[in-house]
Amino acid sequence: MAASMGASRLHMRGNGQLLKCFQRILTPFQRRAGTNVAACHSLTDHQDVGKTFLALQEERRERAQRSVLISCPPKTTEKKVLKYLSKYGAVNNCFFYDSFGTYAVIEFASRDGICSLHEAASLPSIQYEASVPFKTRLLTLKSTGVDPLDGAASLRLHPQTSMPVNDLIQRLSAEESIDQQLHCLTSTLELTNENIALRFLVCSLLQDIAGAFFPECTIRLFGSTVNGLGKLGADLDLFLDLDTISGRNMKRPSGLFLEYQMKRAASERTVTQNVLSVVGEGLEQFAPGCVGVQKILNARCPLVRFSHQPSGFQCDLTANNRVAMKSSELLWLLSQLDERVRYLVFTVRSWARIHGLTSSIPGAWITNFSLSMLVVFFLQSRPTPILPSLDQLRDLASPADKCVIEENDCTIVSDLSKIQLEPNTESLATLLQEFFEFYSTFAFNRMSINIRKGKQQNKPEAAPLHIQNPFEAEHNVSRNVNATQLERLVALCRESAWQLTHGANLPPSAAGIGAGQPRAPWGVAGLLMPAVAAAAGVKGRGKKKRQLASDRIKTLLQTLKK
Ligand code: GTP
Ligand code: MG
Repeated sequence: MAASMGASRLHMRGNGQLLKCFQRILTPFQRRAGTNVAACHSLTDHQDVGKTFLALQEERRERAQRSVLISCPPKTTEKKVLKYLSKYGAVNNCFFYDSFGTYAVIEFASRDGICSLHEAASLPSIQYEASVPFKTRLLTLKSTGVDPLDGAASLRLHPQTSMPVNDLIQRLSAEESIDQQLHCLTSTLELTNENIALRFLVCSLLQDIAGAFFPECTIRLFGSTVNGLGKLGADLDLFLDLDTISGRNMKRPSGLFLEYQMKRAASERTVTQNVLSVVGEGLEQFAPGCVGVQKILNARCPLVRFSHQPSGFQCDLTANNRVAMKSSELLWLLSQLDERVRYLVFTVRSWARIHGLTSSIPGAWITNFSLSMLVVFFLQSRPTPILPSLDQLRDLASPADKCVIEENDCTIVSDLSKIQLEPNTESLATLLQEFFEFYSTFAFNRMSINIRKGKQQNKPEAAPLHIQNPFEAEHNVSRNVNATQLERLVALCRESAWQLTHGANLPPSAAGIGAGQPRAPWGVAGLLMPAVAAAAGVKGRGKKKRQLASDRIKTLLQTLKK
């Protein structure tokens, strides 16, 4: 416990230390290279406040295009790596991480640095095998001979994976209130700025491959990488945007005009499948680090799935997925409006994952996206709403925000300052308990969740759980959820609501605990324990329901009263 807490504090302090470290390390050779040391700021500078979603993504994309991913030799030092690389151009940012070897993400001040690096890099000399001569921004720093500095200093490695559940439970138990526990859970699990930078870099590397076939295409990130709700270890959702190819969707002039000759296909879907098939092939054949490429082209939303080994990301590449991008923007906007959105979403998603309500394997279970919708709807439904409805966001939009995708009106306001809501001061502890209460009594059998209106409506179809897709009204985002999974969700909500009301919802007193002894799990930590699922009768998927612990105790109390 003490060790993990120490590691956490180090991790949280790490950003400031990194800044100091850059200043210390870079000063001599930045000076030599004639660059401004002040420009070498930490990746975690909080300069993002007030930016629109699109501006923020564009800025990150641009930084990724000036970056390289480098596999470093063993026993190297930050100073040596930076000293060597800054010969090619001023380095703005950098960090190191471990993924079956040490990697460095190096962001140059300009793309010239990458050009110089490419000119200097050589092709690998491999015996008995041949290499595909496709040059990318994934490089290996090799060393000849033995340097007396080798092993003299260790690298500061930034973790890119999530904390084990048991450590998380211990860490939460050490907090003093439920509100603090939600803060702690979120800051422990959320994507770090370094991880986000790595995600954008991988996206940029993949775009270089796709660009070999479609030079003007863009690969964009969507999903939890950009919606503000991503956890370390989350997948990388990418989509190939061919609409950026100039001339697409342009109005035809009158009179003479030129048109490209192009191959024809039976439908947009066929085009998407063909394009993804070729890009998938390119990734498999030419992209270093991309392994296990699977083309899942007959899915409702065709995709190419693969692992990017140097980053450890599981990637899903789709095409023509602008609605999903808009959904990501919506969740980002809502999570920026009120910080309680993120704390609740992180807590509910973690709770659901630990109790097996969600899974990385597709199936009849609820998805993280649907869980986020449940949180949003709950916050819209408070007596004093904490979040506006989608219709309200549309009504506040300016003409520049107008967005129609495949005949669906996806317009939402981009200027957060236009959104004014009555103040709501409910604590996180209250909201979490009320969330579980709300969904343990929700009339799922009759009612649908509609975040566009911020109101429940009669269900238009017989699916056990109906959550209207925010931008495609006729779609149910949780149509995959079966009755058993919904029952498990409701049972766990009921049990968790009961535990937060009647159970250990205050930190246990220090009395009786020896020095250095961890506290028994309480509050949110208690909700993450397997005992909650066991008490709710949902320990394993598909297991027979048992009477809820809360129900058992209620019955007992009634018996005593008689
Ligand atoms: P994690 O990857 O689990 O962290 O969350 P995520 O939000 O990235 O979810 P996921 O990878 O499953 O999906 C990626 C994105 O696709 C979501 O954020 C949504 O924007 C979108 N998405 C997923 N499922 C649906 C759906 O059923 N309907 C719509 N419209 N969009 C969806
Ligand atoms: Mg995702």
